[in-house]
Parts: sequence; structure tokens; C-alpha cells
Amino acid sequence: SHNIIITIDGWSSCGKSTLAKQLAKKLGYTYIDSGAMYRAITLYFLRNHIDWTDDAEVAEALKNIVLHFEPNSKTGDSEIYLNDENVEYLIRDLIIADKVSDIAAIAAVRTFAVAQQQKMGAKKGIVMDGRDIGTTVFPTAELKIFMTADIAIRVERRFKEMYDKNPNVRLDEVKHNLEMRDYIDSHREVSPLKKADDAIILNNSNLTMEEQLALALEWVKKPM
Ligand code: C5P
Repeated sequence: SHNIIITIDGWSSCGKSTLAKQLAKKLGYTYIDSGAMYRAITLYFLRNHIDWTDDAEVAEALKNIVLHFEPNSKTGDSEIYLNDENVEYLIRDLIIADKVSDIAAIAAVRTFAVAQQQKMGAKKGIVMDGRDIGTTVFPTAELKIFMTADIAIRVERRFKEMYDKNPNVRLDEVKHNLEMRDYIDSHREVSPLKKADDAIILNNSNLTMEEQLALALEWVKKPM
């Protein structure tokens, strides 16, 4: 059987990474969380007080950022490293989520991330999730999925996930963050979040994880 590229795009907190991880595991593919790259860049900018409205400062900062993914030695899950520091946990904070969409809208930041994403997919056998993977990163991917779910369900899922790490998190701030990111991500000039014309829509509001995986595996088998 030949390896393909699977792209999973969609709104924030639709369970894109859950599906992508499950698919990669089933198929023996590599899973890449492209959002983690924008989050790690955001962490670097915040830590180093980069003025991201200044193009020259952004260009200089990007020269000092090296990102790579490595499987966790216990779970095998792919985790992101920023200049050799594992930042997988740090980048999930609301402080990062609050700024990431502004930083991901910067053209130079996208050029930097997209070039690396395309290299990772050169050998195919990859599942990548994000916002512009089917439209910009891999426009010729064999299978493109566009995920969506009711906002209330998305907020509830993300809130539970964050509450486990930080019981001080509030439902309204999680909701505000998802709505804000969705707005900025779908309205930016460069590679806005948008369904690729040839993507299949997956609304998982009423699907279990098992059901959505079974659906996606059917799509992998069938030529589009
Ligand atoms: O997927 P995740 O929610 O972790 O992504 C965080 C943010 O990174 C998104 O809200 C979006 O601003 C940005 N992003 C992007 N393009 C991608 C993946 C993520 O602009 N391919």
C-alpha cells in the first residue's frame, strides 16, 4: 500500500489532534501538530519581549528559533521542542492561546512554519492538523478533512481539558478565546482558515471518537 498525506483542518477545539493521532497510529504514519509550531513561536516571542508589529524584529527572532518534534519516551506521543527545550506542556496555557492567532497572522511567521511543514511531509505517510494544511501546506494531499462541531460542545471539551491542569480556568474565558481565535484565523489575509474545495466535512458534534475514526478510515480506503 502506498503512503498518502492526510490533512485535518477546522475550527479551534473540534478534536482535530485527537483524530489525527488516532489515524496516524492506525496507519503507522507520522502525526504533526502544526498549531504547536505557532504556539511555540508565540512562547518565544512572549519570553523574549519581541515587538511583533516590527517586521525587522520578527525576522531577527525567527532566525533564533529552531523547532523539532520528538516522541515522548513513555507515551510515544509526538512533542514539540523550542531550541531543544520540551515546551509541549507550556504552550497549552491560555496566555499562549490568547496571543497565538495574532502571531500566526504574520506573513513571515507563516512562511517560516509552512516551509518546515512541507519538508516534514516530503516522504508522505503523514497526518497534519491545523488551519491551512489542505489549502496552503499540502494543496495536493490525497485526503483532506475539514472538522467542525457545535461551539458549546467545543467549549465544553476544551474547558475539561484545561481544567484538569488548572482548576482556576473559567468557562467564559475558554469560550471567548475559541471565538476570538476562530474569528482572527478565518479573517486574516495570509492563508485564512477555510475549507479546501476538495475537503470532506466532518461534523463530530454527535460522534464518539470511535465513530469518527471509523469514518475517516473509510475515507482513507476509498479514493476520493
Ligand atoms: O491547533 P491549535 O489550536 O493548537 O492552533 C493554535 C493557533 O495556531 C490557531 O488558533 C491558529 O491561530 C494558529 N494556526 C495556524 N495555522 C495552522 C495551525 C495553527 O494559523 N496550520
